[in-house]
Amino acid sequence: SGKQRLVVVSNRVADLSAQVQTGGLAVGLADAVRKRGGIWFGWNGDRKGQTGDPVTISEHGPVTCVGIPITPADFTEYYSDYSNSVLWPLFHYRLDLVHITATAFDGYMRVNEAFARQLLPMLQPDDIIWIHDYHLIPLAGILRRMGCRQRIGFFLHIPLPPPELLSATPHHLELMRGFLDYDLLGFQTQTDANNLKSYMAAHAPEIRVAADHLQAKDRQVRVGRYPIGIDAAEFTRLASAERAESVPPTPVGAARMQRIIGVDRLDYSKGLPERFRAFDTLLHQHPDLSKHVNFVQVAPPSRGEVDAYADIRAELEQMAGAVNGRLADLDWTPLQYICRPLPRDVLAPLMRNSDIGFVTPLRDGMNLVAKEFVAAQDPEDPGVLILSQFAGAAEEMQDALIVNPYDVEDMAEALYRGLTMPLDERRARHAALLHNVTTCGAKDWAAAFLADLAPAR
Ligand code: G6P
Repeated sequence: SGKQRLVVVSNRVADLSAQVQTGGLAVGLADAVRKRGGIWFGWNGDRKGQTGDPVTISEHGPVTCVGIPITPADFTEYYSDYSNSVLWPLFHYRLDLVHITATAFDGYMRVNEAFARQLLPMLQPDDIIWIHDYHLIPLAGILRRMGCRQRIGFFLHIPLPPPELLSATPHHLELMRGFLDYDLLGFQTQTDANNLKSYMAAHAPEIRVAADHLQAKDRQVRVGRYPIGIDAAEFTRLASAERAESVPPTPVGAARMQRIIGVDRLDYSKGLPERFRAFDTLLHQHPDLSKHVNFVQVAPPSRGEVDAYADIRAELEQMAGAVNGRLADLDWTPLQYICRPLPRDVLAPLMRNSDIGFVTPLRDGMNLVAKEFVAAQDPEDPGVLILSQFAGAAEEMQDALIVNPYDVEDMAEALYRGLTMPLDERRARHAALLHNVTTCGAKDWAAAFLADLAPAR
């Protein structure tokens, strides 16, 4: 008997023609979907069309990528107003940034229904369906009501907050009940999985909540923790490859310049203002470090249509200017703030040539940059990872210097400790972290989830 086909659904359809897949989602899934054959279904990025028409189809060996356009109104209501102005801030514990508009939830449901309508006729009875992330929570429920009986799994790439936060938004009952139409729910951390169970215990009285599943009247919904990973070998190769010459050399005659590196999508969840303040505090407390360290923060802008993103961008531009204005000299720029994307073959060697990976989100589903920084290092002379206690990655990566991203003094102290850490300790911490990053990779993540969703028959 042949393998069951895999049908992957995510808001953005992946580009399987790309040489190298970027991000954990694309790496782990591209491999799984190629092995089994199947479909990758999602939005094709066109926001000027009719929703669902015309469909763009491209064949990549055993995989068919199907992309649908959406209308400008759907883009606004489904993507900007509900997914990214309600769910994203809410799920990142930021009730203060949740912005409720009257039409948003309807737009969210409308696009989920359009996804279901387009997808349903492509399904075969034996398919396994794997739906991804907060844009598409209601999709299984809609498919079920249209008669879909296949196994459907869901993975949430971002955090899930406790019920007290979830219940502060309208439609939470309808939204959260959508989770009960899946066969398997996967989360990045145990905390997220526990929050789902506490929500159901508080708001869905007919559901029996067990350690690893929810028992509904007609369905058992399995709940588990599946921490996503990276393709570590590939990133190590990129980091050590020749583009390394693009990393600026140490200035001749000067003592070696130490480098702190941060790489994040420009998002308020990443804790960037606090990070800038911690660097400023470090230089204030250790004037001897002046001209001996610099901090490179790469932050490609994202979701600029949403006000909170325009605000954080303006705040960071102001802060970066203020720090450099006060501290810079003719031969030294302390803070290099790069507000655009850099290619991965430039980022990887840049990480390898950095002394500190500074990864301090206020809240993060996993954070793959933490794992990439570890994979990029030279094991003989590795840099130090500073990691927020509120990144999902902290559940596994306890050998990093774990910090509270709200506590600027704590982060400044960790920076100093990292910059002065003896080689033995750096090696020991790095070896432990690298073990985790290489043994819990992107492919292992997809394989573990699929084994639980559709046990071999
Ligand atoms: C996060 C989300 C993804 C999303 C990505 C980029 O990682 O978990 O679902 O695709 O951000 O954001 P964007 O809004 O540009 O797709």
